[in-house]
Amino acid sequence: MKIAKTLSILGIAAFGAMLAGCKAGGDNQGLEYAPQMYHSVAYEPLTQIVNEDQGQWLSTREDGKGEFFNSNVYNPNHMNMREPVEGTVPRNKSGMLPHRLKQFQLEDAALIENPIPSSDEVLKEGKTLFEQYCVACHGEKGQGDGKVGEIIGGVANLTGGAYINLPEGHIFHVITKGKGRMGAHGSQITPENRWKIVHYVKQVIQKQ
Ligand code: HEC
Repeated sequence: MKIAKTLSILGIAAFGAMLAGCKAGGDNQGLEYAPQMYHSVAYEPLTQIVNEDQGQWLSTREDGKGEFFNSNVYNPNHMNMREPVEGTVPRNKSGMLPHRLKQFQLEDAALIENPIPSSDEVLKEGKTLFEQYCVACHGEKGQGDGKVGEIIGGVANLTGGAYINLPEGHIFHVITKGKGRMGAHGSQITPENRWKIVHYVKQVIQKQ
């Protein structure tokens, strides 16, 4: 009986100690088991810690620096990411420049050439994309007679009048930024796919 009582008191004491060990908050991280599992020394671009001693008390690093030191000693100012070379412009995976023209800069956009060479495959993809994104308003043949077009009205007939001569860059820009009553599709269709649609519009819809 006595033993059982002693054991239970010991148990409560041990449990209490465990709970106390779990306490963490603010700068106190509590007791950590195998801290190197939680604190990776990954070079993070935006959380640069240049103080080599920070986290020294729990460091298990072989280079003798603190656990939290994560800046790059080989770059100027200990930066983790190098600044791009002055005057360079980032391109996307396919080597395309970013399209930064504003919606009203249609004349500038008209000068851009289609960077994707046309092929049967591209026209096939262009057709699928046109059906997905444009037919609802512009209709199967681009005559402005799609089901949604009937309701909103004023949809351009891409096969008629001045629309026939629209430069490829102009069409790309209209898809990207929208124009008048047509909304922008830039966030929904990748630049590559927009240029494929342009090929389809020019060659199949407008037979140019
Ligand atoms: C929600 C309906 C809608 C959808 C979807 C739509 N358009 Fe339009 N589009 C319009 C309307 C309306 C106009 C007439 C815009 C104006 O001048 O007010 C127009 C105009 C155009 C023009 C003529 C631009 C000019 O210079 O006047 C082109 C080119 C065009 N659309 C291409 C496309 C292509 C390609 C797609 C598919 C990616 C597409 N549109 C999707 C409604 C739509």
